Order: sequence, then structure tokens, then C-alpha cells
Amino acid sequence: MCGIAGYLGFRKAYPIVINGLQRLEYRGYDSAGVVLLDGNEMSLYKTKGKVSDLKKIMKQKNIDGNLALGHTRWATHGVPNDENSHPHLSNSGKLVIVHNGIIENYDTIKKELIIRGYTFKSDTDTEVLINLIEEVKIKNKCKLGEAVQMALSNVVGAYAIAVFDISKPDEIIVAKLGSPIAIGIGENNSEFFVASDASPFIEYTRNAIYLEDEELAIIKLGKEIRVRKIQDNAIVEPDIHQLKLNLEQIEKGGYDHFMLKEIHEQPDAILDAYRGRLLASKGIIKMGSVDNNIARFLNANRIVIVACGTSWHAGLVAEYLFEDLARISVEVEYASEFRYRNPIINKNDVVIAISQSGETADTLAAIKLAKSKGAFVFGVCNVVGSSIARETDTGAYTHAGPEIGVASTKAFTTQITVLALMALKLGNLKGELSNSRYHHYIHEMSLIPGKVEEVLKMDTEIEKIAAIYKDAPNCLYLGRGFNFPVALEGALKLKEISYIHAEGYPAAEMKHGPIALIDEHMPVIVIATRKGHYDKVVSNIQEIKARHGKIIAIVTKGDTIVREMADHVIEIPETEEAFTPLLSTIPLQLLSYYIAVMRGCNVDQPRNLAKSVTVE
Ligand code: F6R
Repeated sequence: MCGIAGYLGFRKAYPIVINGLQRLEYRGYDSAGVVLLDGNEMSLYKTKGKVSDLKKIMKQKNIDGNLALGHTRWATHGVPNDENSHPHLSNSGKLVIVHNGIIENYDTIKKELIIRGYTFKSDTDTEVLINLIEEVKIKNKCKLGEAVQMALSNVVGAYAIAVFDISKPDEIIVAKLGSPIAIGIGENNSEFFVASDASPFIEYTRNAIYLEDEELAIIKLGKEIRVRKIQDNAIVEPDIHQLKLNLEQIEKGGYDHFMLKEIHEQPDAILDAYRGRLLASKGIIKMGSVDNNIARFLNANRIVIVACGTSWHAGLVAEYLFEDLARISVEVEYASEFRYRNPIINKNDVVIAISQSGETADTLAAIKLAKSKGAFVFGVCNVVGSSIARETDTGAYTHAGPEIGVASTKAFTTQITVLALMALKLGNLKGELSNSRYHHYIHEMSLIPGKVEEVLKMDTEIEKIAAIYKDAPNCLYLGRGFNFPVALEGALKLKEISYIHAEGYPAAEMKHGPIALIDEHMPVIVIATRKGHYDKVVSNIQEIKARHGKIIAIVTKGDTIVREMADHVIEIPETEEAFTPLLSTIPLQLLSYYIAVMRGCNVDQPRNLAKSVTVE
């Protein structure tokens, strides 16, 4: 994980880098640091804590310099303290590095370096890497770029690194394997930006290169960027991307937290996810990447979905969608299990990888494994140009816009939207979904953004319920059918941002164990919408009531039966059962949000987490 931001050019580097680090804090916030080079004068500042803590320290410091590298860390090797924070220096004090990733064989390299007289101030793999680079440079009397390249040929693991030599204030070396790195290019190569994603530099340039795995770039002021393959030194002609991101999208826009802003963005995000794809007036769904590979989908023996966390929950919803609407058998796998399980994958299987960030290490590894077994891999990603978007054979973007709050919200609903479109399209083409049902679903989908707006109006009511249950030590979430994954997602949202222990279950599973937990102190959130096993869920609610549990029920507008039994009801508009997750998940997001705020938790940056999990 971790975020890297760097600048080399004619402007003062510090403000660019420190603002950039703040935008990248979703990638980790255990510690922060910055190194500045003013001529040949270097200053290095780092601290445990957030970028705001670093900013406080910097108030008293010299912040001059046109070259800077900054880092915000999610600790892997070594506890979060000042010493383990990045940037790190080599033993001579001449070479500087920031790193995102893990060097797996760092211990072996460290032992060898210690024999050669190197000493280490931190417990990090990164300090080992910069000293390895120094050792290679001295031994081979070579330039920095070559030394980095040779050193990286000897490391096992994942990295995005930026390195410079304090005697070369016009040059930065950047390299990538597994972890992302973007390079922003100023006019006439008069300035360069280096960052884990393009957000730190969007107000300065629209031109960016995303390095591919095993590539190394030599960035020199006034010169074209030179890119090489690390292993065989082959020259690479980099693709220059035109960035579409804008500043507004990555700011809070008047909301207290990114999470709340992103929850409220869902009507637009869902609309953007189906815009140009769901042609409601013509009654068709058009998806280039599905249309171009239609035979693969129609002939698929089964669909295997790989993902992690919230994206995995979207995968579970997709299982219901594909099986119910298109009658294609689906298996949903945790990417982390799939990749180490020697899974059986046949050529006729279609693998769908779901990821907001497009950088999740386990999902990426699962894709590579599936491809090596001959499967066709389709990606459902949010971040354009991300590693997963590039590694998959083809795919569909969710177009949710940047999701900055660590807890995933609009990514989930847009993933479900895209997957629902695919299921509907395939269902109709396979003849499983009659034209009239297909057109009905298309129409119903076009109403979803408006219905999400309606659910969002329940905001104040949900806040009141949150105030009642904010001190609960535990919480249960129950749902059936399409809403079982929503129960899992609701529980994940609550535990990750409020640190309340929460579990999601299929409602009927309650009797097989969890019911033992129910007493008058246990809040149970039940999704009891009218379409979809309503009577069964009503029975489950009665069982909970009989044991004095507190019921918060998500019901369909106008419901009277559950209203009589539940302690609280939150109404959502009626829709097709297959689309209820798009509505029922919203109150659960808001409930978690308000509970976390009332408990004084850092909603956008919950402890121990990071947005982009680029380590396994
Ligand atoms: C939970 C959350 C995580 C992510 C998971 C996968 O709110 O955000 O569980 O869903 O880390 O991330 P992506 O979707 O980026 O692959």
C-alpha cells in the first residue's frame, strides 16, 4: 500500500508534494515523510502519524527546493515510528528512496549487506533496497539508473519506487513491479510529477504515463522520459495518457467526510455506470466488451468471480444475478484463497475480477493464475488504467468516480449495476429472459437512481437510529437471497469504520448458531423487503423478537406487517428483487457512517486499513 508523491521542476516542490500526500492518504496513514533537495542541500523530515502531523513539523522548517519526494505509509515491515517512516537514505547519505510494496527477500540481502559493513537505522525492507542500490552503484561504478535496474533484478517482491542522488538535482529514477506509479509530464519536459495515482498532479498537467510492471523510467529535467524493461533492458515507448480526472471529484464538496459525499453520490454514480450502456428508450443494453466477446459468455460452462472485501460481496450479488437471470452457474471466490488453491479452471470458464482500485494484490494474482490456465478474464474496475484493468483480457469500468473514503460505498453499488447489466443482457440473449421481462428490467433499472435519491432522504431518521445503538458492542445483520450479500456488506461497513463487532448471516442460518447471541442488548438489522422470501424473513424476525432482540428492519415502502414487530423500520422504494441490493445497502451505509461519527471514529481513515491493498 503506501502513497508516493514527488516533484521535479521549476516550482517549489514542497506544497505540491504535501498536498499530493494528503490526496494519497487513502493508501495508508501510519506515518509520513518528505525529503527536499535545494541545489545539493538536502533536508529530510518524517514522523509517525498522518500527513497533518508532518505538516505541523514543517511549519518551522526550511521548505525550499525544486525536487521533493514524499511518502505516506501503511506499515508492513517494522512498526509505525519515525525511523521506519520513508523516505530512507543509503549509508553514504547520498541516495534517497520512497517505496510502496514489499521486498520479500530483504532479510537475505540485509545479511549480505551487513557482512559488507552496512548498518541500518530502521526495520524496513526499503532501507535494505536503497543500500543494495548503493552497493551495486559503487561496485559497478555505474550511473544511478543502471544501479537501480541491477539491484531490482535481485529482489523478489513488489515495488513502486522513486530514487534520487543528492548530487544529481535534476534526475529521479522510478520503477514498478506490482504497485502502481504514474508520472505527470509538464510542458516541454520542464517539470515532472511522480505519484501512486494521478490525483496529486491533476491541476498541473493532463499528460501522464503509467509505468507497466518491470519497467524503469529515467526522469531528467528538460529531457524526454526514458523507459526500459528491468530484466532485459529493452527500450519501451511509453503511452502518454490524457487524464480526465478533475479537482472537484477528489475534494469533499461541503460534506464532513468523503464517505458521506460518496454515499450521496450514488444516484449519479449508478447513472454513470449504466450511461451509454442501458438504452432504455430502445430497450437494449450495449456493452462493447461483452458484445465483442459474446460467444465466450454464451458458451461459458460457468463464471468464476474473484475479488476481495466489498468487491467480493458485489460478486456474491452477481452470483444471484447471473444464476437467476441468465441461468449461468457461478462461483464466487476470495481472490486470496483462489490464488493458492490450485483451482480447477477450464478453457470455457469465464473469470470476472471485480475491484474498485484495480490494484488489489490478491485479485491481480488470481487474474494472472486464471490467465495462465487459459481462462478468459473480464475485469469490473473503477480506476481507469489500473493494473487490473490492464491485466484482464477486457472489461467494463464502473465509472463511479474517485472513491476516497476507505470504506467502499459507491464502488459497491456501481459494481452491482454493471454486473446486473451483463446478467440481463446474457439472460436475454440466451433466451432465459423473455423480451418483455428484459424490457421491464431495463425500465426498472432506469428508475434506480431516483429511488436511491429517495432512500437518501431517510438520512435524518437513520441518524436518530444510530444515536440509539452507537454503544452496542455487537450487531447482527440478516438477509436472504439477493439481500444476503447485503447483510455481509452492512456488517463489514459497521465493523471497519466504527470498530463494533458485527456479523452478517443468511437469515435462516441464525438457527444454526448465531441465535444463541440474541438477548435484549443485541441489535439485529434485518433486510425484509417484500419481494424475496418475505414470509420466511418475517418468521425469522419473530424468532428474534421472542428472544427480545432489537430489530431494525429495512422494509418496502408501505409495509405494515414488519412495522408491527420491529423496533425501527427504514422504508425503501419497491423494485425488482434482483435490484433491491442497490437500495437496501444505502441505509446500512448511512447507519454505519453515523454510528462511527458518533463514536468519534475517523470515518474516512479507519485504523489499520488502507484503501488500496497492494500487498497480499
Ligand atoms: C471495504 C473495502 C475493502 C475493499 C477490498 C477490495 O469497505 O473497501 O474491503 O473492498 O479491499 O478492494 P478493491 O475493490 O479495490 O479490490
